Amino acid sequence: MSKQIAQDGERVRDCIVIEDGASGYPLDMFCIPNHYQGTLDRILIPGGLIKDRIERLAQDIVRDFSSEGMVALCVLKGGYKFFTDLLDRIKQMNSHMERPLPLAVDFIRLRSYVDDQSSGKIEVIGGDSLENLKGKNVLIVEDIVDTGRTMERLLDHLKQFECKMVKVASLCVKRTVRRTAIVGYRPDYTAFELPDEFIVGYALDYNEMYRDLNHVCVVNEVGKKKYAVQK
Ligand code: HPA
Ligand code: MG
Repeated sequence: MSKQIAQDGERVRDCIVIEDGASGYPLDMFCIPNHYQGTLDRILIPGGLIKDRIERLAQDIVRDFSSEGMVALCVLKGGYKFFTDLLDRIKQMNSHMERPLPLAVDFIRLRSYVDDQSSGKIEVIGGDSLENLKGKNVLIVEDIVDTGRTMERLLDHLKQFECKMVKVASLCVKRTVRRTAIVGYRPDYTAFELPDEFIVGYALDYNEMYRDLNHVCVVNEVGKKKYAVQK
């Protein structure tokens, strides 16, 4: 579990940490759609590694949520790949368990980014009424926690619906100057901790591009310019 602090004050590692300056993997060693050639710097997390890490997160989540059940709440759009792969794993585990974890799904859509900058606010722009979360154990499934402000605002927004328990699973957390690895919001389940670079792929987008890329990659300046919002 996250948020563990060792006796000497150092954080116990709760996820795979990709260090600053990590060289990642060369783009020409993996399959990249042709339309993205020249717009990426490197692969930071290959798709296969993402899937392996998700297998383990699924195990942790099933262990922590009792057989009372869980509502998995997907934060669209960026969370959709992580959400489907995570739920596939949980369902697979369920099929082998004597007391499977009853599972329901729900969706929410927020918006907080234009280009690669946080707009500083979130808007709930889609999804069903969240009234049916009342009294439920909820797992929010998100693609990335950057400053942590979006998630803090979402958790605040959910308070009015009186869930029994709310936990957060995020594919990535970023080490930003605004939120260090030790100080600031941290999800309950995190797959990878990343350097402060703008990443795309595996449903993470830059102005709606790159969601169709299987690997988490760093976008380069050519890509940022090519797909910038026209103003
Ligand atoms: N990539 C895509 N979406 C994001 C990022 C990022 O690096 N940080 C916050 N939202
Ligand atoms: Mg997101």
